[in-house]
Amino acid sequence: MAHLITGRLLRFTADPFAAPPEACATFDAHGAVLVEGGTIRAAGPVDEIARLAPGATRDHMGDALLLPGFVDAHMHYPQTGMIASWGKRLIDWLETYTFPEEARFADPAYARQQAALTLDLALANGTTTLASFCTIHPGSVEALFEAAEARGMAVVAGKTCMDRNAPDALRDTAQSAHDDSARLLADWHRRGRAVYAITPRFTPTSTPDQLEALGALWAEHPDCPMQTHLSEQIDELAWVRALHPGAADYLSTYEAHGLVGPGALFGHAIHLTARERARLAESGAAVVHCPTSNTFIGSGLFDAARTRADGIRAGLATDTGGGSSFSMLRTMAAAYEIGQLAGTALHPAQLLWLATEGSARALRMEDRIGTLAPGSMADLVALDLASVPAIAQRTERAGNIWEALFPTIMMGDDRAIRAVWVAGVKRAGSGRDRTLENAAALSTLPRAP
Ligand code: GUN
Ligand code: ZN
Repeated sequence: MAHLITGRLLRFTADPFAAPPEACATFDAHGAVLVEGGTIRAAGPVDEIARLAPGATRDHMGDALLLPGFVDAHMHYPQTGMIASWGKRLIDWLETYTFPEEARFADPAYARQQAALTLDLALANGTTTLASFCTIHPGSVEALFEAAEARGMAVVAGKTCMDRNAPDALRDTAQSAHDDSARLLADWHRRGRAVYAITPRFTPTSTPDQLEALGALWAEHPDCPMQTHLSEQIDELAWVRALHPGAADYLSTYEAHGLVGPGALFGHAIHLTARERARLAESGAAVVHCPTSNTFIGSGLFDAARTRADGIRAGLATDTGGGSSFSMLRTMAAAYEIGQLAGTALHPAQLLWLATEGSARALRMEDRIGTLAPGSMADLVALDLASVPAIAQRTERAGNIWEALFPTIMMGDDRAIRAVWVAGVKRAGSGRDRTLENAAALSTLPRAP
């Protein structure tokens, strides 16, 4: 059955970091997306698109802006419960807040509860795909993939591997990390929309033996992504140097074990050497900018414009719970603010591209998500560009679509999410009500010990 969604429409035609940003998108003031069998059949001016399927059912979104659903390319669903924890920096933040919370995921019921909560928060914020770290417990991966399957979402996830510098309850071994990851990969990778990511947490918490075992697993399954962290905070760099005194730099500790190449996703990547930049560009690896996390944990200023100019793939992400918001709108705003501090005012086209197609490209999933191209899955968001009075009064003065969009990027939140479709099925909308509903439902669940 064909379904027509009408509204204003913005589609990228080119990479706004590679050409003048305003010229990289087509805007239809009266547009439509035609959905059939969960995929996009066509998108464009409503008159043209409506003719393709005269009998289609319809959703009129008025002057809401129809976009691909947001793609959050790096986050930690097990950290939802401790987001916004005060006063620490990366290493003591991990020890004080993160590891105790992640230990709770030994309980599969708690994992299922947090997986459902996180995906509902993501949808309420217009995020239709996320790439998440789980915990060392295989059940934490199963819980997230099951919750994603129930919602029809394309989720990237993997067992977080750690065999040193972590509490006993959160340590695996090189062998068990390999074997558990291999089994989860066999069970889940490409089952429906699930994508398994091989996931060493970062160099300080994996022995060279563990990195080697995971590098060997990746070599057997090169179509899986590999996600980890790189050069986030200065103290972390010093720790990596102390653990690997002979290494040329941080990236080389991954390279030594076959963990740099197409499909690699390096969260943060703020403090890079020239060699690391060149190597990231030539290898086809991607870096993921996590701006609310970088300010919240005090990590530093990622230079997005320079990263793209260096030819490095880049995506955008919340990094919750190091990040302080589930909203990719808030994340784009933080990217803009960090861009200003780093010396470049990112154009709204660049911010929006990073949050959709750029993240999809980082995940190497741009043939399925992150665009409105025919054949892509119908993961969509309808954005209200006048969601609250403060934004509405500003949008009224806008002279073009970018001026109309920018106040929502800077000041918008889940109230701007008028509707969300996952594979053509409406899953959320009027974010605020939906979030409250979910919170109410959650309060009836038993608490984990
Ligand atoms: N580096 C290693 N683990 C983490 C994590 O959980 N969050 C962040 N922000 N950085 C990390
Ligand atoms: Zn992270």
